[in-house]
Amino acid sequence: MSQSRGLFHTKMGIILATAGSAVGLGNIWRFPYMTGQNGGAAFLMVYFLCVLLLGIPGMISEFIVGRHSSVNAARAYSRIAEEGVRQRLGSHKGRRAQRLVAFSKRGAAFIGILGVITSTIILGFYAVVAGWCLQYLYAAIAQQLNGDNNYVTAYFNEFSTSMVRPLVWTVVFILLTHFVVSRGVRRGIERVSNILMPLLFALLLVLVVCSCALPASGSGIAFLFRPDFSKIDANLFLEALGQAFFSLSLGTACLCTYASYFGKKTRLATSAFQIALLDTLIAILAGLMIFPAAFSVGVTPDAGPSLIFITLPGVFRQAFASLPLLGWLVSVFLYALLAMAALTSTISMHEIGTAFFHEELHISRRRAATIETLLCLIVGVLSTLSMGAVPSLQVQGEPLLSVFDHFTACLLMPAGALLTCVLVGWIVPRRIVRAEFTNHMTIGKRLFPLWLFCARFVCPLAMLAILLHQLHII
Ligand code: TRP
Repeated sequence: MSQSRGLFHTKMGIILATAGSAVGLGNIWRFPYMTGQNGGAAFLMVYFLCVLLLGIPGMISEFIVGRHSSVNAARAYSRIAEEGVRQRLGSHKGRRAQRLVAFSKRGAAFIGILGVITSTIILGFYAVVAGWCLQYLYAAIAQQLNGDNNYVTAYFNEFSTSMVRPLVWTVVFILLTHFVVSRGVRRGIERVSNILMPLLFALLLVLVVCSCALPASGSGIAFLFRPDFSKIDANLFLEALGQAFFSLSLGTACLCTYASYFGKKTRLATSAFQIALLDTLIAILAGLMIFPAAFSVGVTPDAGPSLIFITLPGVFRQAFASLPLLGWLVSVFLYALLAMAALTSTISMHEIGTAFFHEELHISRRRAATIETLLCLIVGVLSTLSMGAVPSLQVQGEPLLSVFDHFTACLLMPAGALLTCVLVGWIVPRRIVRAEFTNHMTIGKRLFPLWLFCARFVCPLAMLAILLHQLHII
């Protein structure tokens, strides 16, 4: 099977595709509004800490599982667990030993399957927001967003609660994703990432320059970089951790699936570090695009999820009032940027299920992609309609879209990450894990104990704390 699988073609392709997965609405939509709501620089500092101590070690753990077996997530988990348990059992070959092996294989495969389920749900509701970006891209080009704040608010509320347009855009976005993924790893995913990622970076830089050049932009920059320590509490810590996980695509076997396309020479720790760095850099740049513009026109960026769709169009209109053409360009660039970032992320979520169905059901890649597309279409359609068109799709007043978001971000993702760290840190023997981390003792020998400590103790404890907190036990 692994002979017929694609591999990412170049080192740059690996970094750009995986960074493409990491960089998404999480960076450009979620990070700025979370930072805005949680006091700016204080949130940023805690976020850094979470990425460094929990995010990077967690990424490396998933990379190890995926690269070790070069197969879809469910089988990769079960294979590494089987090998590990067999090695630990040594010469024990009795019935009980066999049962233990079978049990651990099944248990580990469950982590991969959980990843497929989680990512399908995320893809469904993520595509809804990505679809909004397409609508806004269209509206920005057609200059439909020019109006005062009441107008922009009404525009968003009217659009997001209507039935047809959001539904059409969601379906379009999922089909776009389907099209890229079914073309394969190298010709589809890698090629699209190689084009979109540099373009995205360039667009973002242009927007940052425009925003920071505005008069009185300094207070926006200070908001992002001058911490107010009194804002740091347990809740902020949990929010930052959740954001770090979402942004790094952790806990859904996404990185494991991508790592199954890495070559044997790829340096796992270095790649994790580079990707986390790029991801964080882009999140900060997104902050530098939004906060200076918002502060320059006296808007506080604490609107929450509607920041990008309600606050920003108004901010840009006011900020560039004397230069309408530039204002138009800036808003077109913004929504193009969001749509591109979202696409490289939805591709990565789709690939988890596609690889799974392709290899486990022994069907063609195209057919596997179709199954995954149908599944996430169901979640996507339910999520869009729950925004207002079909009120019965709300749970205690919350649209299904937010329910899916909370359920995955608070429960399924930390659970996936916890199980991965326990498996890699405690069950798989150190020899196997070390061989992957150090590429058979050729690199990174001194970093290994540090990572192992994080994977064994720091990450699982933090994940457990989040899970218990979410379940209201602590
Ligand atoms: N990291 C992406 C973002 O920041 C979202 C994403 C892509 C993701 N793949 C994922 C989130 C897998 C969770 C799991 O927008």
